[in-house]
Formats: sequence, structure tokens, C-alpha cells
Amino acid sequence: MKDHRFPRIPPGLPLAQILGPLSHALELTEGQPVGHCLRCCYIGTRIGDALNLPEAEMDDLFYTLLLKDLGCSSNASQVSQTYLADDIAFKNTFKTLPDSPVAALRFVLSGTGPKADLPRRIRALANVLRNGGQIVNDIIETRCQRGAAIAKRLHFSPSVQDGISNLDEHWNGKGWPNGLSGEAIPLASRIALLSQLVDVIHHARGRKAAMDEVAGRSGGRFDPELVEIFKRLAKDPDFWADLEDPDIEFLVLSRGAALHQRPVNADFLDEVAAAFANVVDAKSRFTADHSDRVTLYTDMIATQLGHSAQHRRWLRRAALLHDLGKLGVSNQILDKPGALDAAEWQAIRAHPAAGSEILKRITAFADMAPIARSHHERLDGGGYPDGLTAEALPLDVRIVTVADVFDALSAHRPYRDALPMDEVFDILDRETGTAFDADCVAALKSGLGRLQSVRGARNA
Ligand SMILES: [Fe+2]
Ligand SMILES: [Fe+2]
Repeated sequence: MKDHRFPRIPPGLPLAQILGPLSHALELTEGQPVGHCLRCCYIGTRIGDALNLPEAEMDDLFYTLLLKDLGCSSNASQVSQTYLADDIAFKNTFKTLPDSPVAALRFVLSGTGPKADLPRRIRALANVLRNGGQIVNDIIETRCQRGAAIAKRLHFSPSVQDGISNLDEHWNGKGWPNGLSGEAIPLASRIALLSQLVDVIHHARGRKAAMDEVAGRSGGRFDPELVEIFKRLAKDPDFWADLEDPDIEFLVLSRGAALHQRPVNADFLDEVAAAFANVVDAKSRFTADHSDRVTLYTDMIATQLGHSAQHRRWLRRAALLHDLGKLGVSNQILDKPGALDAAEWQAIRAHPAAGSEILKRITAFADMAPIARSHHERLDGGGYPDGLTAEALPLDVRIVTVADVFDALSAHRPYRDALPMDEVFDILDRETGTAFDADCVAALKSGLGRLQSVRGARNA
């Protein structure tokens, strides 16, 4: 691939044009239907308009709504392990529960360990019933803190960070993690919580159900003033028609706040890619830092193969985002200590296409989609998802494939310990030419050798 094929970043590309489509990655982890974050953005900014919020506050509200789920992957393992359940389905149902202890108890009793054997299920239930409040608090706190930290990393204001970290506080003080109440909860958090439920219920059960659920929680979960504003909005059929418009992305990204904010430069694109790599890696402790290490090995191979600095920068972003689609895979599968069954394999095999579909929507990352889609292909056609063969696999895909498999073999996995280096290289050598590109494997070895000799010299 020649350097001239790398598109320059369009001048003045607004931030929302990147983060809007990228928000689809966040809803994958929460089990929400496609467009959930964008629709929340629409609902919440309509409420912000009705409140006549000043422009700067609207901008912060817009990004709080769009990125409210930034920390969502960080508690997926916790949810999956504690409740012995598919974290994605569990979180989805949790959001729609009525605000009553009886409903919560019923949900816990039916949702904990639905497929686990009886002794494991009893142990999990005993733990949940004994420590329920603290468990929910910890799970939500993890998500809040992580989400706010990533927003900070992306240089969003403290008000966006606070908006994200207080998303689950309830007006009546019965929310999490700090039990804030009333106006002590940031306005953006109150709006986001209401918007979230409207979209979830509207999508599952229609307009009337959404209106009823919101009205029934006025003064409980929700700020009564916001509920009244929502009721007025909900009388307008155009409000619902917009929400049901398949082109909601265009609608949201055309709104005032989406067009403000800073234009994006190359440094910021690096940060966005790194931040979303963190979101992916946080999903499972077995993949902690995986995307970062794959990026390191990718860059090592690309350097050895003589890629230019500009080409390497592009490829580093592609490596950071290669596993974006894993956000849609349940931790019951990612963290499973044993062999996967056919359905579980199918879910794993779907992640390259899922990541690629999201990247395709983002102008600045669209040309990286083929790398996300093809990083599990093999030269002999035995890979997935498309069974491509050597002639259809460009050098950049082959580089990321070798970097990815090297990290997978040399890292601890739920079903085995990290393999010793000799064994890792035996496997790579055995499959070189059939699965992996010989030049890429040689470049990786050479890069690792150089790293080793630099370290040796430093320690001498
Ligand atoms: Fe992958
Ligand atoms: Fe990977």
C-alpha cells in the first residue's frame, strides 16, 4: 500500500462526525439497538433546547449524551462473573426494570446463572442476595469512573466528565454510586438518564409505553421538571417521527452542538483510536492491553519492512481499532475457561465484521475497516470471516494478523497460560506461508531481537 493512498484528514472535520458513528461501538456492549446513543442525543438535546441552555452547556450536554456509555465495557467481566450471565443481555434488562425492590429481586432470582449448574447458581445467588447493594454500587462505580476518565483523556470538559460519572444517580437519592439527589446531580446526567430510558422503552414497547414509564418515575428516578418537558415534547408526533427515522445519525449530526466543538487534527485522531482501544481492552481481563501490544508489534513489523512514518501512524490507528467488534461479544464467551461450543464460536467469528461495519461509517477511519474485517484471515483461505486467500490479503492486513496472533499466543488466556516464547515461535514457524506472511514473521523476529539487544545493552 503506497502512502499516497492514505487520505489526508478533511480540514475542519467536526468532532461529532467521528464520535457519532463511533458511539455504535458503545451500544454494542450495552446490548442496545443500533443508534441508541444517537437517539439519546436527540432526545436529550431537545430537552436542552426546551430549557434554553446556553451554547457551551448544550455542547457539553451533547457529548455527555453521546458518550454516556464510554465506561460500559469496564464492568462487563464483573457483571458476567457475579451473575453468571450474559453481560450484554443482563445490562439491557437491568435498564428497563421498574424502580422497586421486588422487581429487582425477581430479576436477580431469574437472571443469575440461568445456564449454570445448580451448585454454582446457588453460590452466585447467595453472594448476590448477601451483598446485592454493594455489588450494584461497585459495578456502576467502575463504569462511571472509567467513563469519566476516558472523557478526560479525550479532553472533554469537567462538566462532560461529571455528566458521565453521575449518569446512574436518581432524583430521589436512590441511585448509584454516591446516592446524590435532586439538583446535586448534574443536569446533563439527569437528562441523559431520562433520555436513555425513553429510547430503550420506546424501542422495545413503543411510544405510549415510553411516556408511561417516564411519567411513572417522576420524582423517583427522574427530575419532575424534565418529565414535564418530556411530556410536552412527546405530544408532538414529529418528535417521535424523528426518533424513528432510520437516518437519525444525519439528524443528530446536523444539530447545532454537533457542528460546534473543535475541528479534529491528526494527534486527536491518535487519541480517539487509543481511547477506544482502551474501551475494547477493558472488556475482559484476558485482553487487558491486547490492542496496545498488537499496535506495538504492528509498528515493529512495519518499521522493519520500511514503512514510512505517515504509513506507520495510519497503521497504528488501524491496529488500535482492529478488535472494536469484540465489544459485541459476551464475556460469558470471552472469559470462558473451557472450549467454546458452536454458537459461541459463531459469536467470536462475528467480531471482525462488526468492527469493520462501525469503522466504515467514520470518514477518518473508513479505510481501516478492511484491516478490522480481515485480521483473522489466513493466507491459505482457512481463516474467517470471509475465507480470503493470499492474493486478497494486503501487506497491512498480514502485518496486523501476525502481530495479533503473536500477542494471543504469548498472553494468558482463560483456557490456558501464556505459552513460552520457544513454543510461540514454533507455532508461528509451522504456520508461516500457510497462515502467516513470511516477511512479516521475519520482521517481527528481527524487531523483537533488536528490542532484546537494546534491553541487554541497557542492562549491561
Ligand atoms: Fe480479533
Ligand atoms: Fe486481536
